[in-house]
Amino acid sequence: MSSASALRAPVPHATPAPAREQVLRPEVNEAHVRFIGLGKTYPGQAHPALHGIDLNIRRGEIFGIIGRSGAGKSSLLRTINRLEQPSEGRVLIDQVDIAPFDEDRLVSLRRRIGMIFQHFNLMSAKTVWQNVELPLKVAGVAKAERQRKVRELLELVGLEQKHHVYPAQLSGGQKQRVGIARALVHDPQILLCDEATSALDPETTASILDLLRDINRRLGLTIVLITHEMAVIRDICQRVVVLERGEVVEQGEVWQVFGAPRHEVTRTLLAPLQTKLPAALQANLRAQPVSQDAAVLLRLQLVGEPELSALFTDLGGRVRLLQGGVETIGEHALGQLVLAVRGSALGAHQLLERARRWAADVEVLGYVD
Ligand SMILES: Nc1ncnc2c1ncn2[C@@H]1O[C@H](COP(=O)(O)OP(=O)(O)OP(=O)(O)O)[C@@H](O)[C@H]1O
Ligand SMILES: [Mg+2]
Repeated sequence: MSSASALRAPVPHATPAPAREQVLRPEVNEAHVRFIGLGKTYPGQAHPALHGIDLNIRRGEIFGIIGRSGAGKSSLLRTINRLEQPSEGRVLIDQVDIAPFDEDRLVSLRRRIGMIFQHFNLMSAKTVWQNVELPLKVAGVAKAERQRKVRELLELVGLEQKHHVYPAQLSGGQKQRVGIARALVHDPQILLCDEATSALDPETTASILDLLRDINRRLGLTIVLITHEMAVIRDICQRVVVLERGEVVEQGEVWQVFGAPRHEVTRTLLAPLQTKLPAALQANLRAQPVSQDAAVLLRLQLVGEPELSALFTDLGGRVRLLQGGVETIGEHALGQLVLAVRGSALGAHQLLERARRWAADVEVLGYVD
């Protein structure tokens, strides 16, 4: 299997030199964003929204944050540009602790960090052009430069023909393209996306993901992305973290976490990506075998291309394939198989152990007669 680092998109531009006085340990210097012992308790709340978060986000990667509603995803994301102030711990951007930043440094930090949202946050009384131009005006950029920048960005997001229309006349996907153009006006190095595709249909989502991938590659931007759509993580992220009750419960390369999720929360979150069993089969599924000759149903997650004949021989008995499919994450093939094993000398537990020799993850779904 090739190294995981091959998954990372190439970063075309040079990395800015970190502030000399704040350079930390060399082994983590590749981290673009670093959380150290981060905690956040909102006023009046008994439980912390974030607790003990230690995490590195690498320069130029697309990093996903997942977790159930209320797990702390937005709170974590918003500490990166200090829209949220941590109660404990530190956030380092380019090795620099952003906690002591005064108003001026915060403004310049926020220009280096673009953000897009689920509901686009466009100004309805302004045209597409004016929406993108506004932050440049606020920053006091001269007119000629503003025009050059807005034209360049509208071209990048494919909206040059729509520059004169108002948001109400745009589709959801087009509105998000305006949001992306606006987020890029100050040539940020980081783009934060909080549920940026959640209001979009699958086809539009795919086109926005293509755009984000393109921006990531062409501009070398680090993208940090929250989504409840696991397919988005699968399709675009290199690494992912799973939050639960404000803590990190799992993190790693997407192909590894999705291929063999370890934590119960991750399994639950990933369930929508699993092909559903046919209704008739589901209806006949039992938790315990009813007869001696009952078939054991196993769901296997395979990474790479294991030899199935050897797996079947190992399981013994008669193995039938009920469902199967292979998808590719980065350059890794992830397969999913549902097998019915009948007449094997092995019990369910032993079958599980055997199947684990071949599969990254195995689950006994139940029994059918
Ligand atoms: N401004 C606030 N004041 C008080 N509590 C808050 C505030 N913002 C968030 N919380 C609480 O902090 C916890 C984490 O919230 P957060 O918005 O970060 O979760 P999330 O993972 O983004 O959820 P969702 O998927 O629903 O967007 C929740 O319990 C939430 O109620
Ligand atoms: Mg949120």
